[in-house]
Amino acid sequence: MILCMAAVLSLSLHAQDTIKLPAPDPAQSTMSVMDALANRHSVRSFSDKALSTDQLSLLLWAANGINREDGRLTAPTAMNRQDIQLYVCRKDGAYSYDAKQHCLKRVSTEDLRPAVAGDRQPFAKEAPVCLVIVSDSRKFGNSAAAADYGRIDAGYVSQNIYLAATAMGLATVARAMMDRERLAKGLGLVDEQMLLLNHPVGYGK
Ligand SMILES: Cc1cc2nc3c(=O)[nH]c(=O)nc-3n(C[C@H](O)[C@H](O)[C@H](O)COP(=O)(O)O)c2cc1C
Repeated sequence: MILCMAAVLSLSLHAQDTIKLPAPDPAQSTMSVMDALANRHSVRSFSDKALSTDQLSLLLWAANGINREDGRLTAPTAMNRQDIQLYVCRKDGAYSYDAKQHCLKRVSTEDLRPAVAGDRQPFAKEAPVCLVIVSDSRKFGNSAAAADYGRIDAGYVSQNIYLAATAMGLATVARAMMDRERLAKGLGLVDEQMLLLNHPVGYGK
């Protein structure tokens, strides 16, 4: 009996560690790319209204999800090395976005939004979701250009987030500012994983 209960408990804990996202539904937004470009702007004030799982699913797919049968992504990457890893920081913890499975994998139970915000821009921790863009330089081997490629690849993902958020009626801002040491530790990053940008996303107020 006790063993059975332990097994059920461990299964349910395990289930919470991976959150399967609903299939992304681009029909959620009808705004054209040109209108999204016309309306894109940075927002630095967020209400605490949560994003639905459908919204998060579409946002992550648009940011850096798989858009072709061969596993390539919505954002281009140098030599298709797919070095960009997206993290999702929320009140209930932090997750790594697995584009192949279109799911979230928990990396921390801590609310890391204060580490994303840092001391100088506390508004960022008010957003229900903070996306964090990391480039893994190991994907480029020992190439001297790894840092450049990583930063460029991060820029594409950042612009995807801006445009998708705009088209979905959400607010965001790209930020290089963050408490890198605390965030890298919280996310369990190694030295080769470069913390490049973050995007608080939510409803503007
Ligand atoms: C690489 C990069 C880093 C940025 N870092 C920050 C930041 O740390 N904090 C912030 O409030 N905005 C940051 N921004 C947003 C810019 O300040 C913003 O894009 C700029 O003021 C132009 O405003 P707009 O996005 O509304 O056109 C950053 C933008 C980029 C592209």
